[in-house]
Amino acid sequence: MQSLQEKASQWSGVRADDAFAIDETNLYEKLGLQTFINLSTNFYNRVYDDEEEWFRSIFANSKKEEAIQNQYEFFVQRMGGPPLFSQRRGHPALIARHRPFPVTHQAAERWLHHMQQALDATTDIDQDSKTKMMNFFRHTAFFLVAGDELKNQKQGFPCKHATEKPAAA
Ligand code: HEM
Repeated sequence: MQSLQEKASQWSGVRADDAFAIDETNLYEKLGLQTFINLSTNFYNRVYDDEEEWFRSIFANSKKEEAIQNQYEFFVQRMGGPPLFSQRRGHPALIARHRPFPVTHQAAERWLHHMQQALDATTDIDQDSKTKMMNFFRHTAFFLVAGDELKNQKQGFPCKHATEKPAAA
């Protein structure tokens, strides 16, 4: 049976090595906190304004400001910064946290569409970092789709998508 990681690679078209190339550089130190805040703000502005009602409605029970904070704190933590997300929210456990939502192939593509646009609009991110981040996002999105298929099974999902990074010096 294919593992979730293998499904994520197959469906996303991104090899695990490329997805986790975000660990080769400390992107938090390179880009800084404000860049991550800008990226998540830009992303969620697009999501909450999405003309596609089916996608917008997935976020209907979340407050935009909180969704922004949840996301940038996770990105900061995962990309080499202080563990802001875990300090406030606990372990990332991304599959479990997405359990209430319909994380389908179509939803992943829409999420990634908005994230690509948000990355393109965030001018202070260099092209190499954008490529690394997008590979990570794409692989993670389809990892979540694979997890969504297992919704009714109770099991743990060890993975590198949500590794807790030590606080930056
Ligand atoms: C594949 C399509 C995806 C869908 C439909 C989706 C949907 C959602 C929704 C509805 C929320 C709740 C908003 C909130 O209150 O924070 C959420 C939260 C979150 N998502 Fe996603 N997401 C997707 C992909 C991703 C990806 C690729 C990542 C990471 C790279 C991610 C990371 C997070 C994080 C960190 C949270 C906050 C969880 C919390 O604090 O409880 N999501 N997502």
